[in-house]
Amino acid sequence: MSITQKQAEIRIKELRKELFFHNHQYYVLNQPDISDFEYDLLMNELITLEKKFPKLLSGDSPSQVVGSDLQTESRTREFARERHRYPMLSLGNTYNLEELFTFDERIRKIIDEKVIYCCELKFDGTAICLTYQNHKLRRALTRGDGTVGDNVTANILNIKTIPVTIPDDAPSEFEIRGEIYMPFAAFDKLNTEREEDDEATFANPRNAAAGSLKQLDSNIVKERGLDCVLYHVLGENLPFKEHFEALRKASSWGFPVSDYMKLCNTIEDVIEYVKDWDYKRKFLPFPTDGIVIKVNNLAMQRKLGFTAKSPRWATAYKFKPEEALSRLLSIDYQVGRTGAVTPVANLEPVQLSGTVVKRATLHNSDQMELLDIHLNDYVYVE
Ligand code: IVH
Repeated sequence: MSITQKQAEIRIKELRKELFFHNHQYYVLNQPDISDFEYDLLMNELITLEKKFPKLLSGDSPSQVVGSDLQTESRTREFARERHRYPMLSLGNTYNLEELFTFDERIRKIIDEKVIYCCELKFDGTAICLTYQNHKLRRALTRGDGTVGDNVTANILNIKTIPVTIPDDAPSEFEIRGEIYMPFAAFDKLNTEREEDDEATFANPRNAAAGSLKQLDSNIVKERGLDCVLYHVLGENLPFKEHFEALRKASSWGFPVSDYMKLCNTIEDVIEYVKDWDYKRKFLPFPTDGIVIKVNNLAMQRKLGFTAKSPRWATAYKFKPEEALSRLLSIDYQVGRTGAVTPVANLEPVQLSGTVVKRATLHNSDQMELLDIHLNDYVYVE
């Protein structure tokens, strides 16, 4: 059934409103209320409608602008806002292996030489941009709205793996971007402590990392076990022609760089890498939500350029949300220090996203009632 322009207009308006709401929940409050997968479905529907009815496309649509992490709540308004030297964009993404062939074809229409891809894990944390001048860390900005970010340098200084001073053979001025993330062990420890103190737990390590980085008291960051991985070097006249080479140099200057990058000669090799890591990532001690595929040659990257929101030289393949089947063994009622009571499900232990899950808080007990779930029932844990 085809849709009229009027119907499309109504639906587009709805989708934009919903996506702006979910952006705020995710980037500002660090409390997403839908999964990434559901979010990407809504975004895809919007992009498809805007493509079909180009007259309805507008520059401020969530399909055209990067979700902003700038704090609007007065409690956290105190970070200084600073302008990025180069815009900090997002990545196009897909859940479909077939679309990687389309990505490759699109690139080869523009580049008629052999293209080598650099495949990397997509770390699931919050983006950071570090500026080095005269071999010293000068500032650290969050992505913000892509143009302006929050200056979180004081917090970054409390992450041990980020170098404050770098060797003299590094360029005298450049930026390096990456992800601040929380390893599973630190996440479990933090949530256990918060549960005992009757504080709201974080839904996942990404929210915990983003929430922690936005703390005004930098001592809190010290205790939270955050870590960092860097994956993009930017600047003028830098001494390398390839992305992989840039990261290898960055590693030699003391920057934390991923051990799991791989150069691939063909898109078939890229797909092998994706399949391999879709399994192996379950054993990593930190969260990943996909694979990032980048054209390795920097001159080719420049030729491919950017759309309003993302580079044409890179894309992300996102893993489908993990779920595991378990059995509901019993329900306990946990009483916190302030006397608040939370029902907790004891589950048959099951491996999920790198940890063994055997308990789950039942904030959704009303839903359980609706679903008519009983002891010994099989349940999916997400
Ligand atoms: S490259 C121009 N590489 O994923 C964009 N991003 O969903 C360059 N991310 O905003 C980004 N792992 O915060 C790149 N290996 C990786 C990554 C990565 C995680 C994040 C990053 C980006 C987001 C897009």
